[in-house]
Amino acid sequence: MDGITGLRDRYLAAIAAAADEQALEDTRVAALGKKGEVSLLMRGLGKMTPEERQTAGPALNALKDDLNQAIAMARAALADAALNARLATEWTDVTLPARATPQGTIHPVSQVMDEISAIFADLGFSVAEGPQIENDWHNFDALNIPGHHPARAEMDTFYMSRREGSNQPPHVLRTHTSPVQIRHMQEHGAPCRIIAPGRVYRADYDQTHTPMFHQIEGLAIDRDITMANLKWVLEEFFSAFFGTGVKTRFRASHFPFTEPSAEVDIQCEWVDGQVRVGEGSDWLEVLGSGMVHPKVLTAAGVDPAEWQGFAFGMGIDRMAMLKYGIPDLRAFFDSDLRWLRHYGFAALDVPTIQGGINR
Ligand code: PHE
Repeated sequence: MDGITGLRDRYLAAIAAAADEQALEDTRVAALGKKGEVSLLMRGLGKMTPEERQTAGPALNALKDDLNQAIAMARAALADAALNARLATEWTDVTLPARATPQGTIHPVSQVMDEISAIFADLGFSVAEGPQIENDWHNFDALNIPGHHPARAEMDTFYMSRREGSNQPPHVLRTHTSPVQIRHMQEHGAPCRIIAPGRVYRADYDQTHTPMFHQIEGLAIDRDITMANLKWVLEEFFSAFFGTGVKTRFRASHFPFTEPSAEVDIQCEWVDGQVRVGEGSDWLEVLGSGMVHPKVLTAAGVDPAEWQGFAFGMGIDRMAMLKYGIPDLRAFFDSDLRWLRHYGFAALDVPTIQGGINR
């Protein structure tokens, strides 16, 4: 019996000292495994006298139960300790300041392009595109601007270097979006209603001119389109764009690719050096327009005996300056973050007819 008490003390101490699951399991096997000390003693019961067995049997059973219970408790304690250790390392400090999420803004030119596209989409126009590096024919000849025409010099064209061995005229950075008229009619014919927004290039730099700027071309071709349709479309557009009734004034002008041609002014007023569109007694020139010249239709593969229509070209940057009160055109293209944060628009705030065009 003394032996059993000694065994109990020794194994309870070993169980208490086990630092991890493996040490605990080793202790269990040493005591209660097939060849464990306690198991061997139990096997010895058979060789005892009945009297000896009567005391030793229950004592050994009690020892076995005690050790099993102590092991189960120690195992649970180890699991708890492991969980606590994990919780201590994995905790989150919810009082920490949130990480900064830098947010870009939409450039006023992109915003205004989206606004203009939404308004014209509602009027039944789709968006067309063309290359910014354009060939001489699409930028000039097809638009009835022959080689000697003064318009070529006026436009301060950027020329690409001529391809080696080529006798073709060099490509140009397109000086206007009008070549998209030609490309669209060549591909899709008539009738058509398109706008073509994009970058254009002219060698010019001062407070109101940058060598790259943005235009939007409009083109509507059908059997019976007239200047009256042009005037209605433009007034409808300007009123939606500026969010107030806007009157237009057509002044006779000249473009090689339209006949007749008109420059269009919108009504405005100057207050403390700031311009207000849609009221007052002043006029502001905003676009060139006219009836597409028969030679242009022919060059684009459209029969002028059957089809006619209007075209216009408008500066987008100018529209953004007027609408959002931005003073200097050159700052548009400086990529100054302070300017972009001040004049930029929220990325998810997309202008639509149903959601609202004006910010
Ligand atoms: N392409 C002309 C320009 O850039 C504008 C224009 C377009 C005029 C279409 C008439 C018709 O000045």
